[in-house]
Amino acid sequence: MAKQKSVGYECPYCGYTSIKWLGVCPQCKQGALEEVKLSSVVSGSSNSENLSDKILNIREINSDEQEVRYKTGLSELDRVLGGGLVKGSVVLIGGAPGIGKSTLLLQICQYLGKNNDILYISGEESVSQIKLRADRLGVDSENLFLLSSGNAHEIANTISKETPDIAIIDSIQTMVCDSSSSSAGSIVQVRECTNLFMKVAKTQDIPIFIVGHVNKDGAIAGPKVMEHMVDTVLYFEGDRNLPYRILRGIKNRFGSTNEIGIFDMADRGLRQVENPSMMFLEGRPTGASGCAVSCVIEGTRPIMVEIQALVAKSAFAVPRRLATGIDFGRMAILVAVLEKRLGFFFGQLDVYLNVVGGLKIDEPAVDLAIAIALYSGLTDKIVSPHIIAVGEVGLGGEVRSVSRVEQRIIESKRMGFKKILVPRVCMAQLDKDIINQNEIEIVPVSDLKQALNTVFAKKQE
Ligand code: TYD
Ligand code: MG
Repeated sequence: MAKQKSVGYECPYCGYTSIKWLGVCPQCKQGALEEVKLSSVVSGSSNSENLSDKILNIREINSDEQEVRYKTGLSELDRVLGGGLVKGSVVLIGGAPGIGKSTLLLQICQYLGKNNDILYISGEESVSQIKLRADRLGVDSENLFLLSSGNAHEIANTISKETPDIAIIDSIQTMVCDSSSSSAGSIVQVRECTNLFMKVAKTQDIPIFIVGHVNKDGAIAGPKVMEHMVDTVLYFEGDRNLPYRILRGIKNRFGSTNEIGIFDMADRGLRQVENPSMMFLEGRPTGASGCAVSCVIEGTRPIMVEIQALVAKSAFAVPRRLATGIDFGRMAILVAVLEKRLGFFFGQLDVYLNVVGGLKIDEPAVDLAIAIALYSGLTDKIVSPHIIAVGEVGLGGEVRSVSRVEQRIIESKRMGFKKILVPRVCMAQLDKDIINQNEIEIVPVSDLKQALNTVFAKKQE
């Protein structure tokens, strides 16, 4: 075998590796490459064993073994996990600092602790600080054990020795393992520590939750490496100024990633939002014209947006047009399409357009909802709160295709909508199961006129 070089270089920010030192990382340009020992995986190959004996025919493998899932007591979380926490799985809970990750995990200890021993390890807080928080959350399970440490090796050993039923590690960025000299939170540390915890989870069959902080760009520091190592990745999202928190599955080896869990941060911790569509509709003005809802994909994630349009008689010689959260030019085009193609004139009227909640949208899939909101604002006809519309509107008034329609339909259904307008051209790519389900009616539309006829045809409830 060719002689193996024993050191390599790696970027502590993005994980780029090179066998030569290249100075500043050529990939992310955030800092200099650091020396690392080349993987011990290669050296392990010396004690050769015969793997041929271990090959099994798939039919010989016994699948009777029941998949054990622990219920967490929060059905919103269980759903995102794919029906509960799978034994031996490693779950990453990502999210911005202060979003509620520690709160969520401490909270579930109460329910999980009824029948299971839990070891909660924090590198961020002392045990008395955790106790204070637990008091506030009403968590006092006799099976909950706390440990404050950041030494990954010791923690892994302790978990192996104490064999709790479930372990929680808060957070990966505070963990260090001796085999690497880089600082806590660097990509090398994050990867090495995750590796250690993965090993314990798999060998001892102990499920482990790992908290991972996400930086401003939305990436978990030392991000991608961790995402593909662990079994399940859940992101906790939300505006810190608003009480709502959304838990979203990004990856799940044991379930679907289309599920979201919705929580409400109150003074005694997180509460589940039982009916998210209710929550969503709550803030919406009832019976007001000019409102329409759409579903946009932000990154990999579908998000509901409410568009509001106010069309009023202008007091000025030149009417005012204002768009917040949407490109002004986009609004102008849609107004022009409504005028030119459908004959609805906004001439001497002020038009104000707003995306509720301070979101900024640049996805064309929201066009159809904007056009509907504009028409509704103009005519004072009200859009049913159960209708949602996705589609790009072309200059000819045609409704053009958008990506990931299926994901938007699933999300809309999940959010409790009853009818979704989608571009007709997208119907061909839809799965039969999606089309044939009856919780949400899928209405294909080919142009704006048809869309408006569908939305305003008969009196909606
Ligand atoms: P935390 O779980 O510490 O966030 P993370 O672990 O993701 O960094 O959440 C802290 C925030 O939650 C803090 O800003 C205060 C708020 N909070 C409440 O509103 N109510 C509560 O009962 C608790 C425990 C926290
Ligand atoms: Mg925390």
